[in-house]
Amino acid sequence: MDVYEAVTSRRAVRGFTDRPVPREVLERVLSAAAWSPSASNIQPWHAYVLTGAPLAEVKKLAGERLAAGDPWDEPEYEQYPPALKFPYCERRSAFGEQRYGALGIPRGDIEARQRASSANWDCFGAPAALFCYIDRDMGPAQWADVGMYLQTVMLLLRAEGLHSCPQMAWAKYRKTVAEVLSPPDELILFCGMSIGFEDVTVDYSRTARAPLEETVTFVEG
Ligand SMILES: Cc1cc2nc3c(=O)[nH]c(=O)nc-3n(C[C@H](O)[C@H](O)[C@H](O)COP(=O)(O)O)c2cc1C
Repeated sequence: MDVYEAVTSRRAVRGFTDRPVPREVLERVLSAAAWSPSASNIQPWHAYVLTGAPLAEVKKLAGERLAAGDPWDEPEYEQYPPALKFPYCERRSAFGEQRYGALGIPRGDIEARQRASSANWDCFGAPAALFCYIDRDMGPAQWADVGMYLQTVMLLLRAEGLHSCPQMAWAKYRKTVAEVLSPPDELILFCGMSIGFEDVTVDYSRTARAPLEETVTFVEG
């Protein structure tokens, strides 16, 4: 698979089969992803990869919290600016309509949207997951490094025939994840990532992108 194909075939997959992901494949992907760039090569990512019983435990505990109507953990970082302005706000609404429209959920049906979103806590059925932490001392440049690392992981997963879904949702249940992983106090959970083989019977709609001229300016001589 060439890089263009890896980039264009990667998408947030929200339905996985239970086919296990071999440990050696995950090691191959993460060993290659370690070559991601970072400013001054400080490599500020901390990844925990879970399969089997530990992942089942995280999913079970999260499911119990959901069923109990437990409130989300207080945020350790701001996921979006408090007032998302134009054009980001419009793009977010368009995403919601695409995502939930594909599932046949009408715009105002908040409860049905929440039900669909609760599949996050089962990692959409994925048999493997990565939880990515960053040191709380780090600034925006290092958070960007971590983003590059995660994209590299996701592209390499495509090269192995695997799919993924990055999930900031897990930051909302970060204490549940910590219960199983016991990460050092200085780390913040940025996001989880479901990993596995796609369940091709699950409907989805491919998210659109803004036209190039909205996000790229060519300055030519
Ligand atoms: C940092 C990050 C966090 C995300 N968090 C979630 C999440 O919690 N749950 C989810 O279903 N999708 C999540 N997504 C997936 C985005 O919704 C998705 O990438 C976006 O809509 C573009 O669609 P595509 O990835 O299918 O091209 C996240 C993506 C990123 C990059």
